[in-house]
Amino acid sequence: MSKKILVSGIKPTGRLHFGNYFGAMKQNIDLSNSGEYESYVFIADYHALTTVRNGDELRQQTIEAVASYIACGLDVSKVVLFKQSSVPQVTELTWIFNNLVTIPYMMRAHAFKDREAKNEEVNLGLFDYPVLMASDILIYGADIVPVGADQKQHVEYARDIAGYYNRAYNVEEFKLPKDLIIENVASLPGVDGQKMSKGYNNHIELFCSDEDLKKRVMSIVTDSASPEDKKNPDENNIYKIHKLFLNEEEDKNLREKFENGGYGYKQAKDDLLVTIMKWREGKKEKYDELLSDTSFILNLLKENGESARIKAEEKMIIVRKQIGLE
Ligand code: TRP
Repeated sequence: MSKKILVSGIKPTGRLHFGNYFGAMKQNIDLSNSGEYESYVFIADYHALTTVRNGDELRQQTIEAVASYIACGLDVSKVVLFKQSSVPQVTELTWIFNNLVTIPYMMRAHAFKDREAKNEEVNLGLFDYPVLMASDILIYGADIVPVGADQKQHVEYARDIAGYYNRAYNVEEFKLPKDLIIENVASLPGVDGQKMSKGYNNHIELFCSDEDLKKRVMSIVTDSASPEDKKNPDENNIYKIHKLFLNEEEDKNLREKFENGGYGYKQAKDDLLVTIMKWREGKKEKYDELLSDTSFILNLLKENGESARIKAEEKMIIVRKQIGLE
């Protein structure tokens, strides 16, 4: 039997942080490395265009995203790791799908509604974001889409759109994909306690300098409890971040430290810093090495872009026939 297909993307709109890592990257890495899937992971540079307005910046952030994935342990022999824009077929499919969705339906998308609620200007690319994402997912025939909780609705759009197409043309062309979300991770707080996000500037980058890492960890917001006080770990930002790095046993020990009292915030931050530094051991060096000579990444993107494009084009040949373009 052929393997199930996994598709996932990440937007290169800034350096990747631990919210990205625990929210989406880690699952993509674990699932791809397991070898159980035919795995497509891409850097969503077309999607980034909704906000990024600088070519050099987008190029650089795309390469950094690839370097982050590899440094974090993604086995490139078990995944097609590529650039979304290496497959312009997804924009062609987006145009086709655009004709099957209505404006009221698109207006229900969270990303759009949130921007509207804040009175931000919404460009057509952002409005169409879910349709481009549906094309990403459907063009490779995804069975599962591992994403952060914030992307759940987008996967539902992909399912809907697959259904609209299949019904409109009376075919069974597009499979209905499933999302795969690790729920508890949705709540990873940033240093200020809000959801970790570059938008809030409360994030901790995976591969910033040691100095910046320390600054960020030390800036985690806490209450005014004194070191002797007993503390509830579940109401504590330092704990909520720290626990993601720990196994069950370590987690239990850390909880006890908070609960027993005598564990001050300074100590808790120092311990978290040690944990993150350990996590970065080997990875940070790998990341820096990949970026010091980008030829490995550029070659990889070129080769993988080609194989992703071939797979997508096979689908488009069928689609163009079904809808009458060929
Ligand atoms: N929208 C996703 C994000 O912001 C990135 C993305 C684009 C994606 N296309 C995708 C994720 C397809 C999964 C599948 O993180």
